[in-house]
Amino acid sequence: MFKFLVIHGPNLNMLGEREPDIYGHQTLDDVDHDLSAIAESQGFSLESFQSNHEGDLIDRIQQAWREEVHYLIINPAGLTHTSVALRDAVLAANIDFTEVHLSDPRQRESFRHTSLFEDIARETIVGKGVSGYFEALNNAIDRLEEEAG
Ligand code: DQA
Repeated sequence: MFKFLVIHGPNLNMLGEREPDIYGHQTLDDVDHDLSAIAESQGFSLESFQSNHEGDLIDRIQQAWREEVHYLIINPAGLTHTSVALRDAVLAANIDFTEVHLSDPRQRESFRHTSLFEDIARETIVGKGVSGYFEALNNAIDRLEEEAG
C-alpha cells in the first residue's frame, strides 16, 4: 500500500478566503478531504499537513522519511522561492515528489519566477488551481503502480 503525504506551505490554510481571484473558492479542508477519499478508494493512504512555519514543515518531512512515506505532493507556497532549508529536507528524506502551485508563478511578479524545487521534482504542475493537486495524485499513483510492476 502506498503512503502519500501532501504538504501545504504558509498561507494555504486561508485557501477559499485568500485572494479568491487567484487561488479559487475551495477550502484546504475540502481539497484534503477529496484527495484522501481518492487515495483511499484505490487502497492507498494519504495524509495532509499545512503549516505557516518553515521548521514545522521540515520536521514533518523528516517524520515522513521515518514513516516510509512513498510520495510527497508539495505546494511550498512562498517558501518555493526562498527556502534552501525546505529543499534540503526534501532531498534528505529522499522521497519523490510533485511540486504543485495553484497559480502560475512565472506569470506573476519576477520574485516568483525561481523555484528551489523544480529541478528536483518528478513533476511540477502550475496554474491549474486546486485541480493541480488531483492531477498530481493521479499521475503519482500511475507512476508508482507502473514502477511496482
Ligand atoms: C503559490 C505561489 C507562490 O508564489 C505563493 O507565494 C503562494 C502560493 C501557488 O500555489 O500558486 O503562496 O505556491
